[in-house]
Amino acid sequence: MIKIGMIGTGYVGLVTGVCLSDFGWNVTCADQNEAVITMLNEGRSTIYEPGLEDLLERNRYYKRISFTCDIDSVIKDSDVIFIAVGTPQQADGSADLSGVYETAVRIGQNMNGYKVIVNKSTVPVGTGQAVKAMIHRELLSRNLELEFDVVSNPEFLRQGSAIQDFTHADRVVIGAESHKAAELMKEVYRVLYLNETPFLTVNIETAELVKYASNAFLAAKISFVNELSELCEKTGANIQQVAKGMGMDGRIGSKFLHAGPGFGGSCFPKDTLALLKQGENNQCSLEIVRATIAANEKQKRRLAERIKDEVGSITGKCFCILGLSFKNNTDDMREAPSLSIMKELASEGAIFRVYDPKAMEKAAACFREHGMIIEKYCDSEYDAAEGADAVILFTEWNQFRSLDLNRMKTGMTGSFFFDFRNIYSDRMMTDMGFRYYSVGRG
Ligand code: UDX
Repeated sequence: MIKIGMIGTGYVGLVTGVCLSDFGWNVTCADQNEAVITMLNEGRSTIYEPGLEDLLERNRYYKRISFTCDIDSVIKDSDVIFIAVGTPQQADGSADLSGVYETAVRIGQNMNGYKVIVNKSTVPVGTGQAVKAMIHRELLSRNLELEFDVVSNPEFLRQGSAIQDFTHADRVVIGAESHKAAELMKEVYRVLYLNETPFLTVNIETAELVKYASNAFLAAKISFVNELSELCEKTGANIQQVAKGMGMDGRIGSKFLHAGPGFGGSCFPKDTLALLKQGENNQCSLEIVRATIAANEKQKRRLAERIKDEVGSITGKCFCILGLSFKNNTDDMREAPSLSIMKELASEGAIFRVYDPKAMEKAAACFREHGMIIEKYCDSEYDAAEGADAVILFTEWNQFRSLDLNRMKTGMTGSFFFDFRNIYSDRMMTDMGFRYYSVGRG
């Protein structure tokens, strides 16, 4: 039975650890954050992710998953060690790898037999080799000649559907330098392998780049439609229908062509910037990646301007905010477009009544950090609409699709409705008496 160690219980580490334990493996997750480990040991998930807490409970019950702060013991006791620590963005846009490197040194200090060290964190190309060199150095200083392999195994999990994405992956990418390591990884993912999930075995550098290239490409698709949404507004075309027409071409595909307030989250903004930086560090300018980032910033700016143009003076105007998280089914506020657009309106004296089904707590912390004042954190959409001049819908939570819009309207003082996820129809909203604006629907 392969013993798996997971270093880092953030989003990626926790989801991967829980899912691998559900595949039947014995998984020990380690993190230096005691509060997080205590919570997980009590069976409480530290993040909101549909299905995660149930899986956690089931595998704790069968004693296939456990949590500890004792990282050194986990290294000693495991055959396969996943590094899933954070790689936060630095001021210059590059990824901060200190967590990955500290873990690598620690692995070298505690290694006691053949192990496969798997980089699960999203890391710039070349990091796998650096991890290998660090472990080598530690072993040398201990006068040990132990065999080990470093593998790059990027994750492609979307927040909000991470469990489904893990268990029904489009592909598993394994960057390995030995047949032995690649075979061991196939065994770890045996359940997916038996389900005929495609496996791509390549070298470490290629695997590292597949992750960045995929995320930057998806981000480019979104920026492309967001950019065209402006042209649609100016010409009377409809971006949803344009995207539909594009998506019918099998070479383009219909996914990730939804115009909106700009992409956010912990991956696309960070990974596009980090890829741009990797290009610079290797003397090649990645112009499409640069444009993707610029178009995303422009979309957020453009929509804030749009609100100002339509509403007129913002000072003292009350905004009902529907949805705060960067997308639906997550409580994550990282790089949420709501935050930058609201900040812009706040600088001109806007008042906010906010409602999000899951992200209220994280949003409150975010607003505090940015020195923003919120008039009321509301219990419902209707509470948020009370006395508002305008509604701004930032997140496509399903429950917003079945709102009692008459009730919303009755409570409001004004009638502006900015639907930045295009979930309503222009005709219906106008008929109801809203001054309705969506994205890219002329
Ligand atoms: C992403 C990748 O999809 C995943 O493979 C990777 O491993 C981690 O990063 P995630 O950030 O969780 O996942 O969310 P995703 O569903 O990809 O959405 C990212 C952003 O793009 C969100 O802000 C979303 O609202 C936006 N988006 C997505 C659009 O604006 N339009 C779309 O058509 C799709």
